[in-house]
Amino acid sequence: MAQDLKIGIIGCGAIGKDHCRRIIQTVPGATVVAVSDYVAAAADETAALYGIRSFGNDCDGMIKDPEVEAVVITSIDPTHHDYVMKVLAEKKWCFCEKPLSQNAKDCEEIMAKELEIGKKMVQVGFMRRYDRGYAEMKRIIESGEIGRPILIKAAHRNVSQGPGFKTENGVTNVAIHELDICRWLLGEEYKDVQCVRVRQSANSNKGYDNPQVMLMRTQNDCFIDVEVQVADGYGYDIQCEVVCENGTVKLPDPYAVVRRSRPDVTKDPGETMPIMTDWKERFIEAYDIEMCEWVKSVHAGQLTGPSSWDGYVACVAGDALNASRGTSEFLPVKTIEKPELYK
Ligand SMILES: NC(=O)c1ccc[n+]([C@@H]2O[C@H](COP(=O)([O-])OP(=O)(O)OC[C@H]3O[C@@H](n4cnc5c(N)ncnc54)[C@H](O)[C@@H]3O)[C@@H](O)[C@H]2O)c1
Repeated sequence: MAQDLKIGIIGCGAIGKDHCRRIIQTVPGATVVAVSDYVAAAADETAALYGIRSFGNDCDGMIKDPEVEAVVITSIDPTHHDYVMKVLAEKKWCFCEKPLSQNAKDCEEIMAKELEIGKKMVQVGFMRRYDRGYAEMKRIIESGEIGRPILIKAAHRNVSQGPGFKTENGVTNVAIHELDICRWLLGEEYKDVQCVRVRQSANSNKGYDNPQVMLMRTQNDCFIDVEVQVADGYGYDIQCEVVCENGTVKLPDPYAVVRRSRPDVTKDPGETMPIMTDWKERFIEAYDIEMCEWVKSVHAGQLTGPSSWDGYVACVAGDALNASRGTSEFLPVKTIEKPELYK
């Protein structure tokens, strides 16, 4: 392989630190040369761990630095669009964590810049596409062996949320994964969507809706029902079942030992299986594969992973979901015509 791809990371929070470790320790053909964060101390701390450069809070300076060939954006959601645009202004490769942006209009600007460059430069962090469970579900669906998909029943449950979380972030930050993975699994585009307010959980008393139910219908009338709990109080629990004409496929639980024992000799009930609480663990292999594939495709000069178009479509559906809340109506998912670059 050619020389290591020299990466700079913006945002040294939970996933920024995780991707930094991942790239340095496990991804062939790449290394992290620099980090930055709005909070300079966060960048300094991460840089010190690996003996690399800290740009402190000078994220723009890091993007422009000639040593940095590619930028990984792992800062908070509302910052993604502006940083992607700055990376594209330097014509550098970009890996942007989900969501690509906070709304579809901003994604259009990103695509317009890529079209001007004439090349896909951005990959979006929809890592579930690299998860073995989802990949096997897609393979079975596409084989046609169990007939046409009719329904998807999915659930996305998180333990809790940090301060500042709002109802609409249940879509833009959380369900955005479901919006991507469902259309990817089916190979179908959305026709219309509706967000339904349902009975609220006792964990909800924090100013945002919890749960929310999101309904999507595809252009071929496959019906998708996603339960989103952003504060379930028990675990990080991701479920997905695709009901086809002659059978179903279901996302397997992550690898875990099932324990069976006499309830009277331990404090556990008779049968237990650990529940994950940390999203970093649930998709750890998918994140590894995702990052390896991105680096490989950068070396090949042709990105193959989830594109700005995919980030855009998820945001178009997300905008419609947020607009539909409280209307009791399905709202159309209207995209621009797909540019040749993304076909
Ligand atoms: N793909 C996934 O499954 C997945 C999982 C977790 C997080 N994410 C995404 O990754 C991003 C980071 O999430 P996290 O959990 O690490 O959050 P975090 O809050 O732990 O970290 C965010 C970091 O961004 C920094 N930051 C804030 N504003 C900034 C700015 N203007 N410029 C530069 N840095 C800034 C903060 O100081 C913080 O260090 C989010 O967009 C999130 O949606 C994706």
